[in-house]
Amino acid sequence: MNHLQYLNLKKDLQKHNYLYHVLDKPEISDYEFDQLFNQLILTEKKHPEWVESDSPSQRVGGEPLSQFSKQSHRVPMLSLQNTFSNEDIIAFHQRCLKFLKNEASLIYYCEPKFDGVAIELIYENGLLTGALTRGDGIVGENVLSNVKTMPSVPLKLQTDSPPALLEVRGEVILPKEDFKKLNDQQQENGETPFANPRNAAAGSLRQLDPKVTAQRPLKMFCYGFGLIEGLHFSKQSEFIDIIAKLALPTINVSRNDLTMKCNNVDEVIEFYRKIESLRHKLPFDIDGVVIKVDSMELQNRLGEIARSPRWACAAKFKPEQGETLIENIIVQVGRTGALTPVAVMKPVNVGGVTITHATLHNQDEIDRKDIRIGDTVIIQRAGDVIPEVVKVDLSKRDASSQKFKIPLQCPACDSPVIKVEEEAISRCMNPICPAVLSESLKHFVSRKAMNIDKLGDKIIEQLFQSGLVKCFSDLYLLDEKKLLELERQGKKSVKNILESIEKSKKTTLSRLIYSLGIRHVGEQTARLLASHFGDINKIILAKHEELIQIPDIGPKVASSIEMSFKNKNLIHEVEKLLKLGIHFKEVKTKNLTLDGLNIVVTGSLPLDRNDIKQMIIERGGKSASSVSVNTNYILAGESAGSKLNKAEELGVPIINWEQFLKLIKDDQ
Ligand code: IVH
Repeated sequence: MNHLQYLNLKKDLQKHNYLYHVLDKPEISDYEFDQLFNQLILTEKKHPEWVESDSPSQRVGGEPLSQFSKQSHRVPMLSLQNTFSNEDIIAFHQRCLKFLKNEASLIYYCEPKFDGVAIELIYENGLLTGALTRGDGIVGENVLSNVKTMPSVPLKLQTDSPPALLEVRGEVILPKEDFKKLNDQQQENGETPFANPRNAAAGSLRQLDPKVTAQRPLKMFCYGFGLIEGLHFSKQSEFIDIIAKLALPTINVSRNDLTMKCNNVDEVIEFYRKIESLRHKLPFDIDGVVIKVDSMELQNRLGEIARSPRWACAAKFKPEQGETLIENIIVQVGRTGALTPVAVMKPVNVGGVTITHATLHNQDEIDRKDIRIGDTVIIQRAGDVIPEVVKVDLSKRDASSQKFKIPLQCPACDSPVIKVEEEAISRCMNPICPAVLSESLKHFVSRKAMNIDKLGDKIIEQLFQSGLVKCFSDLYLLDEKKLLELERQGKKSVKNILESIEKSKKTTLSRLIYSLGIRHVGEQTARLLASHFGDINKIILAKHEELIQIPDIGPKVASSIEMSFKNKNLIHEVEKLLKLGIHFKEVKTKNLTLDGLNIVVTGSLPLDRNDIKQMIIERGGKSASSVSVNTNYILAGESAGSKLNKAEELGVPIINWEQFLKLIKDDQ
């Protein structure tokens, strides 16, 4: 490859990167992209002298830093005045008119207020040379090596005549779906989950190791600027169009329904209400609409007051927050022995949901927010996440209140609790702690595990406390006589329970593995183990070296698996379960019918979606959660929604349940 061809290849990669990550409209498959990328890497190996800072190879994440360096913003990063109602918006409009002495009619440019982390990108002569957090607005932190890993941020502006200097500001966000996945992972790894996508985005951006940031699917939307040299525009809306042409990510290129130029304040209010109604359907969190005077000349005349521009305001949505009283703090012991403090609160309605409990995460979190029993607190609900305490209203605190400390003894078994240095969590290490055992049983019967749906938490507690069930296999020894001994159980409900226990015997290998509750082995890891080994005995005997050969299984997970199966009791439990009739089809690990196929599952289908995904994985396929050009088939059931539309748009073949069964029939 000659230099010109190399430059063209680089341009091609930049283009496809933009199509995929900014426009959401890929033109080539991930496979083809990877091929091009590999070609680039090979060429750069041969010609290291060709590599410049804008090469896609420079995104992978450099060496970890020991700390971030501080850097002043050339133009301070201001904040916005908030408004909360139609009247407030009208008042903002009147203030602008009054300041301008009513001589101008005002046009506003409106867009969502992204709920993320503000950063500033610095492009010098078209090259990305800096990225700063907002910090205190005057001095920020240099997070360039992390920002470089974000595929939606161009390393070089797309133009032959770049401005000498362009400081672009925007918000870094983590889409809701990715936030949930990240938190599942955190949980699986025994780490504290993030409270909301904004915290997760901030935590990801402030990683000292850029390789960690690179794994977090952060996105950015640009909306403003700092210092600019060599670029001219007379309107906010024109600025957005210009930077969008330079390949910077702006919201209007993928969702132009989310921005609007409004000719009067009524249109502004209408837009604000429209966005509010769309809020929960968007793939990322927003907390309002930002209203900006469109004309730059008028913006300059309006100027700023008290660290906020007079020409803009944030029309916020009603926060999903509420005020209530902490009546008690209880400490729950989870199945891994982790002690979690939970606030029990006076019931309060937040965004239409009654809330009585909020997680306090751990002692560090309690200390940081200084949360005590009897405190009046602001609580917040973020999406589907467990509610959390935002802050304490200290003015309402009782003088006699006491700091809360997580007990040094397990509340369930009195054993001393251990706090591992690098973990924020205290744990009860007693393997036969009743709380650990009953929580493990609850996990064992849960929907994604053995799915014994008639055994709810209350019955498990009863069974455990009565001594009828002490371990997993005891569940399969239950009979009518034993169950009728329990309080509030009649013949009919007992029959249902026994039927659901019987039904659970026919299961899958991955469900069985997941049910055992091995630390760090979540659903996904259980599936990997099942399809790699295909046999429970092989998993029991697997050595660390073999386990870490499996893609996506790291040393921590491997150690946990190996350690768990060193415990004779667990092996014995598995043997008993198999003897008592737990069975599953052998998993084939060779000549798989769906080898390499990516099948997205959507809509309502005859089997549980997780089981279908499992069927796909067991046959060598993959099942991503979203449709892309890499999807080979979409398996659509009834009332399939947006995924089906996307599949149609991309021309992905759509199959129904019968066709799916045909596709895998060799295996059945
Ligand atoms: S314009 C003078 N536009 O909101 C500040 N800000 O409270 C001009 N934000 O620090 C900011 N979405 O982090 C603007 N579409 C948007 C925004 C936005 C989110 C954040 C930004 C800023 C904060 C102000």
